[in-house]
Amino acid sequence: MRTPTLWEQTLQRNPNHSLWYVERMRALAAEGNDLAGEARLIDAMVPRGARVLDAGCGPGRVGAALAALGHTVVGIDVDPVLINAAIEDHPGIQWLVGDLAEMDLAAERITEGFDAIVCAGNVMTFLAPGTHVTVLETMRRHLAPAGRIAVGFGAGRGYAFETFLSDVAEAGLSVDSLFSTWDLRPFRDDSDFLVAILGS
Ligand SMILES: C[S@@+](CC[C@H](N)C(=O)[O-])C[C@H]1O[C@@H](n2cnc3c(N)ncnc32)[C@H](O)[C@@H]1O
Repeated sequence: MRTPTLWEQTLQRNPNHSLWYVERMRALAAEGNDLAGEARLIDAMVPRGARVLDAGCGPGRVGAALAALGHTVVGIDVDPVLINAAIEDHPGIQWLVGDLAEMDLAAERITEGFDAIVCAGNVMTFLAPGTHVTVLETMRRHLAPAGRIAVGFGAGRGYAFETFLSDVAEAGLSVDSLFSTWDLRPFRDDSDFLVAILGS
């Protein structure tokens, strides 16, 4: 049987959590906050009109910003409430309900690989226990040749940076660069956030 993600386990304890998250994102957007920092980095990494997968897209803020820049975006998230919000708030983008640990987009007739996969907003810390390597492998399998993955998450969330880097190697991915912010501040031993750019 499939193990629920930590996000789904949070929902089991608090069924309103998804709606709270959607409303929080909508409020931040309405207040004019900058919600596109991750998208700007991805945009700099890819050619114009690239194919980008927003892995663990939630209500779609990163994928929507990339689509607005002319990229072809697919977003996937395990939480149907968040995907419904993405469909409502950002129509015209392919938003899918699915588990990254079981992702097989060819089954959805999406057979072309992605120039970039973005996994932002602490998604890696919400995966089901024991699925991190599998998720990294599924992302690797969905890359185009020379495609890259950008993953960002914070410290103190139960998934150590060292464990992540070991999982990256086990998944057959290489580390191109490590930063501590999405605007490319250097990563140091005491950094409390990691942005990793991975290649296959
Ligand atoms: C804090 S939210 C971030 C959402 C979005 N990336 C953002 O930055 O706004 C974490 C997301 O990870 C998703 N997630 C966690 N594990 C997942 C999995 N195995 N497959 C797909 N989505 C997953 C959750 O459903 C949730 O939407």
